[in-house]
Order: sequence, then structure tokens, then C-alpha cells
Amino acid sequence: MSRILVTSALPYANGRIHLGHLAGAYLPADIYAKYQRLKKRDVIHICGTDENGVQITIRAKEEGLSPRQVADKYYKDIKESFEKFGIEFDNFSRTSRPIHYKTAQEFFLRLYQKGYIFPKKTEQLYCSRCKQFLPDRYVEGICPYCGYDGARGDQCEVCGRWLEPLMLKKPRCRTCNTMPTRKTTKHWFFKLNLFQKELEKWIKSKKDWKESVRSFALSWFKEGLEPRPITRDLDWGIPVPLTEAKGKVLYVWFDAPIGYISSTIEWNKEGWKDYWCEKDTKLIHFMGKDNIVFHAIVWPAMLMGHGDFILPYQIPANEFLNLEGRPFSTSRNWAVWLGDYLKEFEPDPLRYTLTMNAPERGDTDFTWDDFMSRNNNELSDILGNFANRTLSFIKKYLGNVVPHPSKITAEDRALLDKIIETRNTVGDFIEHFELKKALREIMALAKEGNRYFDYMKPWVLMKADTKRLNTVIHTCTTLVANLGILIQPFLPFTSKKIKNMLRMDKKCWDEIGCFEVGKGKELGAVKILFNRVEKERIEIEKSKLGAHVEKLLKHEINLEDFKKLDLRIAEIRQVEKVKGTKKLLKLKVFLGDKDMQIVAGIGDDYDTSELIGKKIVVLTNLEPKLIHGEKSEGMLLAAVEKSKISLVVADKDIAAGSPIR
Ligand code: 2FM
Ligand code: ZN
Repeated sequence: MSRILVTSALPYANGRIHLGHLAGAYLPADIYAKYQRLKKRDVIHICGTDENGVQITIRAKEEGLSPRQVADKYYKDIKESFEKFGIEFDNFSRTSRPIHYKTAQEFFLRLYQKGYIFPKKTEQLYCSRCKQFLPDRYVEGICPYCGYDGARGDQCEVCGRWLEPLMLKKPRCRTCNTMPTRKTTKHWFFKLNLFQKELEKWIKSKKDWKESVRSFALSWFKEGLEPRPITRDLDWGIPVPLTEAKGKVLYVWFDAPIGYISSTIEWNKEGWKDYWCEKDTKLIHFMGKDNIVFHAIVWPAMLMGHGDFILPYQIPANEFLNLEGRPFSTSRNWAVWLGDYLKEFEPDPLRYTLTMNAPERGDTDFTWDDFMSRNNNELSDILGNFANRTLSFIKKYLGNVVPHPSKITAEDRALLDKIIETRNTVGDFIEHFELKKALREIMALAKEGNRYFDYMKPWVLMKADTKRLNTVIHTCTTLVANLGILIQPFLPFTSKKIKNMLRMDKKCWDEIGCFEVGKGKELGAVKILFNRVEKERIEIEKSKLGAHVEKLLKHEINLEDFKKLDLRIAEIRQVEKVKGTKKLLKLKVFLGDKDMQIVAGIGDDYDTSELIGKKIVVLTNLEPKLIHGEKSEGMLLAAVEKSKISLVVADKDIAAGSPIR
């Protein structure tokens, strides 16, 4: 029997999962894999965290942790959130595990031995202040393709182009804002150009790929592919397995997709090859559109070069989900974090909203109002209502026992036939990654159920015709039971509730519309499927957007840690501009018994004259530092909101030198 290997883009272990991530890759992949499991196909869903590269080291610096600690923290957080949200993986690995190091190094060596990798001396950007090379996201500048000022050294998030740091115009170090210099270093390049012809032919043959994916991939061939460096000067990542490459690590986008293989090996040491080497396996990569170039061009070229593995069968990349009209932004806290969502709401209403509004063909927008309306007007009023009115009726009027039907009428038959029809349409849509359309079909069937119930008026039949009543209620119960399976890939928690209420055993997809609903069977406890979401509740959620919660992201400290800081009230006595800089000011502050010199970047926000006499808060026991040739002996405290700065001052007149406790 053929196999299906589903992968979801490995999330960086440098932050929590938000709704944008879910809509792009994980939710559609999960729905697809759940459906295939129900179809009893041989399917596995593979993922793990992406833990190498600058994404991790930059985050580590921001949080005052080591890269290892950052990876551990977010691996755990991401894995837990996925589990609670009902995303099922057959294996969820980490690219910092030995199995991945080994697999990635062997992959590199294979390409190297086959002559697809060569070393070359190149110039790279170097920050003399940070004393390090600036690969990938360590550098920012203007995108040479679209002009976006804020493109990172590895990719422009606006036009999606894959970049190299040297391609950026007006580059600047993201850590200290300094303009970098160029320095020579040696790197290893992958001969991507050798694969252009084969890739082009292959992608052109993929007529059933999404047009957006296909045309984006094909656009790369016009300019012609070039060799790309696949190593980096970093001290975090997978060492390049060559003796002459000491201190170099593999580029994260080289090792990450190999993570799909290593995670599969970790899942099954013997069986993994069936999934990666057998031609009748369908390899399907789910991801957001920013990952297309790597999955449709670079990764297939790597696989072609390696030679032992199959190529992707499908790349159903989604577009982006926005949030209340704006792109998700971690730094601006413009995000809804899955972990936070799950503390307040059930998983299924979000699974539903994100699917109904999935960015399958273009960018879409998540809004809390839409979430509320979909929960209340669709899930609750249509699906929840139909299940509830049917099962509550049985509980209230029929002794809590599913009735025996009598003669089936044409109307009953029409509804029952619609179940099989819906099963077939929904299955077809899912096979073609049209999840939104699939879910709409299911909801249309639930609507039919309500229409049938209203039309048959069981509350009238109760007095007039018990036999007919039993048939009608049995037909409704049959529909509830079948809806319970149809929604399983999309709303697994609700599906489980329905199955529990009806005390159903396990069913597969092809049984939908064909099984007997237990006549004479007593129902389990009847429960409401969806709670209504109130307006006030979502107003609270809206107010959280963009709020500054950066401190919450920092590592927890104890009182002893805090006590190490010598914070004091200091009076500003003198202010001078630091020559040759735009906003650096040299302040002389008085601490009660001595003066201290501080250099601070507040010249854009404060005039010299308004600073004199202000009583501010200063960290006095910070290691002294030279900033632009001026000694800075401490640090003043200021609040920062985007580009606005406000000094922290005492709100009563208090003596200079007073400690802060
Ligand atoms: O964009 C991202 O979040 C990457 N970490 C995706 C990697 S996908 C794969 F190749 F591992
Ligand atoms: Zn760009």
C-alpha cells in the first residue's frame, strides 16, 4: 500500500506559536493527516523544532539566556501548545538532537563527495563593535528587490525573496545599529545552478500545484539559479563535517528540511526508509508562503543531489493570515498566542474560525468579531443547536434512549443520502487541500438537519404519531452521529463529545453514511457542544493586542538577582552632546556623595536644557563601557514605546543618591 508523508514546517524554537503559524501550516496539515488516518491510509505527520541558526542566538541574547536554554524553553512550550490544540504528530523532534546532527552531516558529506559543494573565499559583513560576522538576521537593510527598509540578511519578509547580507543596501547591525564593514572568510557553497534544468522540468510537470506556489517557484528560473553558501560563521549550530571547516556551522536552512528526515528516523529506525525512499510515497510539505523557495527549489535540489530520496509530491503552501487588519508582529506584540488563547477558550472554535477563514488563495484576516460571530452564529446556532435539540429531545421525551425507526419516507431518504454525498464531496475537497470548502459542506449538512427538524416538527408528532416521531428522531440522530465523524479532522474535541453522547465506537471515513445508529441505546450525558462567546470577552482580547508585555517574556529572576542591581536616584547636573553622533548625550549626574558620567541615546527625545535638574533612576554598578570614545559608568532607566522614550523619574522630591528598593 502506498504511503503519505505529511510534514509541517519546523517552527523555530525562538518564540511561542501564534495564530498566523497555525493557519499557515500546522492546522491544515493536521486536518489533512487526520482525514487520511480516518481513511485508513498509511500516513505519518512529522515535525519538530528548528533549533539552529541565528534565530535562536538572537533570541538568547534578548532574553539573557543561552541558546540551549532558549531552545529548551520554546521546544517545550510549542510542543505543549500543539498538543492542547489537538495537533497530532507521529513524531515531534528537535534539530539539536544527535540523530539530526548525524543525518545533516551525512547529507552534507554526500553532496560534497558528489562534487555539489565547493569552498570559496568570500567577503561577508562584519560588525567591528560586536566583533562578529553578521550572517542572516544579524543584519538589516534595504531589500534590493522591493526597497523594503527592514529586510533581513536572509530574506525579505515583504517580497519573500531569498537574500544574502551583501545584497542589502544600507546594511546595519541589528544588535548595535552600526554600519558593518566587509571581511574575508571562507564558506562552502551548494551548486544550486546545476539543478536548474531538472528543477524547472519537475516544477512545470506539477500541474496540480497551487498556482501561487508554482509561479513563485518558476519566477526563480528567469534570473538563473546561482551557487549559494550553506555554511556560516557562528558558534551555535551543526559543525560542518570537514576538518578544514573548523568553527563553521551549517546554514540553518540547509539543515532544517533534513530535520524532516531525521525526525522520521527517530520515529522509526527501521521503517523510515519506506517513507523517504519508496516511489509510491506521497511527500507533502505544509508551510506558509515565506517558506516556498526553500521547499520548492533548494530542498528538492538537495534531494536530487543526494539521490536516495523521493521529491515532494505537493507543497500546499498557504498565504498569510493578518490580525485585525495588520500583519502579525512579535516585536509589537500584535499577535494572539496559542497558549494564551487556550487559557480562555476551547480549541475547536479557533480551529473552525481559522479553517473557514484560511489563507488558502490569498491573505486573510483574523478578527475577534469574526471569531465571536462564527462561534455563536455558526458553530453554536447551527451545529451545536442541531445536535443539542436532537439529543435533548431524546433525553426529555424518549427516556434517553435512541428510538427505533419505522418506515422511511422520501424526505428521510433524501437527508440520509445527503450524508454520503457530503462525505464524498468533503473527502474530495480535502484531498485537494480545499479545507475551507470541505468544512462549508459539512456545515451545510448540519443546516439541512435543522431544516428537517423544523419541517418535521417532532414536538407536534409527539402527540399525533409516535411511530413517525421515532423515525424522525432516529434520522436526526443518524445525522448527528455522522456529523460527529465528518467533523473529526476539523473539530476533534467536538467530535469526541458527540461520540461520547451517542456512546459510539470508532468509525472510519468510509463508514460515514453507512452505519446503523444504535437503536434502543441509552445516551451518555448530553452536553452543550459550544458555549457562546460574549462581546465583553472579546473586547478584553482586543485590548491585549499591541500592549507591551515584553517583560513577561524575560527569564524569571529571584530577589537575590534583583538585589545585585544598585539602582539610585541621580540628579542631572550637566549635559553635553557626544561629538560626531546624532543622539548620544553625555550626562554628569550627582549621586549624593559623588558624580558619575553616563552616555545615553536620548538626544532625539530630550533637549539639553530640560534635562538639567531632573531626578532620574540610574543603575550605578554596571560595568563601565566606552561609548564613542566616552566613558559611561552607569545606565539611566527609560521606558521605551516603539521609538518614543520616557525617562523614569521619582514622583516626589527625594534626595539624590536614595536607593531604589
Ligand atoms: O520559517 C520557519 O519558521 C522555519 N523554521 C521553517 C523551517 S521548515 C523546514 F525546512 F524545516
Ligand atoms: Zn523585498
